[in-house]
Amino acid sequence: MARRGALQPPAEIRRMFDRIARRYDLMNRLMSLGRDVVWRRVAAQAALEHAPAVVLDIATGTGDLAFELVAQGARRVLALDFSRAMLRIASRKRAALRAWNVAFLCGDAMRLPFRDASVDACTIGFGLRNLPDYEAAIREFARVLRPGGRLVILETTPFTGPLAPFFRLYFDRLVPWIGGLVSGDRQAYSYLPRSTAAFPSAAELAALLRSAGFADVRYRTMMGGTVALHVAVRGAHLPDAVTAAASVPASRERRQLGPGAPQRA
Ligand SMILES: C[S@@+](CC[C@H](N)C(=O)[O-])C[C@H]1O[C@@H](n2cnc3c(N)ncnc32)[C@H](O)[C@@H]1O
Repeated sequence: MARRGALQPPAEIRRMFDRIARRYDLMNRLMSLGRDVVWRRVAAQAALEHAPAVVLDIATGTGDLAFELVAQGARRVLALDFSRAMLRIASRKRAALRAWNVAFLCGDAMRLPFRDASVDACTIGFGLRNLPDYEAAIREFARVLRPGGRLVILETTPFTGPLAPFFRLYFDRLVPWIGGLVSGDRQAYSYLPRSTAAFPSAAELAALLRSAGFADVRYRTMMGGTVALHVAVRGAHLPDAVTAAASVPASRERRQLGPGAPQRA
């Protein structure tokens, strides 16, 4: 039975990403044999199909999905993460790429600092698995998306199929070893296979999306079934449970930012 949320509490997750930030991009390229670049390209394409004006990239990390969105023509990207070390790298990359239409914000994916129905598309790449409550997170994404807006989730998915034993060996043994050598943090890279195995299957995640009020839920798997891309459209009406969870106290509403908010990180 899949878990309902991350294996570790948010504070530990944040510390882990703060620790590995410097080597995060390099490890992604090594672990995926460079394929992570292609997966983000496909995710960005899916998010931009209807030319959204404002895209929110949740758990943006070092910003690779946000930059890919811009490379594919996104006009304005808001990119949020709670690890300052990851965001520092993202900001440096933004300067090198001169991608000034990406605004980085430090914040919590479970309490997005945006008004209801204020963004046109949301993306999250390899972030959902790290959030403490998947259902609550998806409800929060639905809250900030406008009706008809797209949610695109790119995530590792529990391995099934004939190549599963090979992938398990690779991710359980080799990835922590390489991660230890490259980032000096073997523990962070043993968390990756453990958290992937405990994550809902692609079909279960699709069911979670439907129950949160998303329509046209589609998914495909890539890299021999190790990565899944879900695309869903925020329905016109959200289930009562979603709107109740989304009602924001007045004090919090004052702190919320519109899509034109200034850069914070
Ligand atoms: C595996 S990285 C993914 C980064 C990036 N999206 C990519 O495609 O490479 C996961 C990111 O989620 C962030 N994260 C985890 N929990 C979060 C939360 N509750 N709020 C905001 N960011 C969070 C971490 O700081 C980390 O940068």
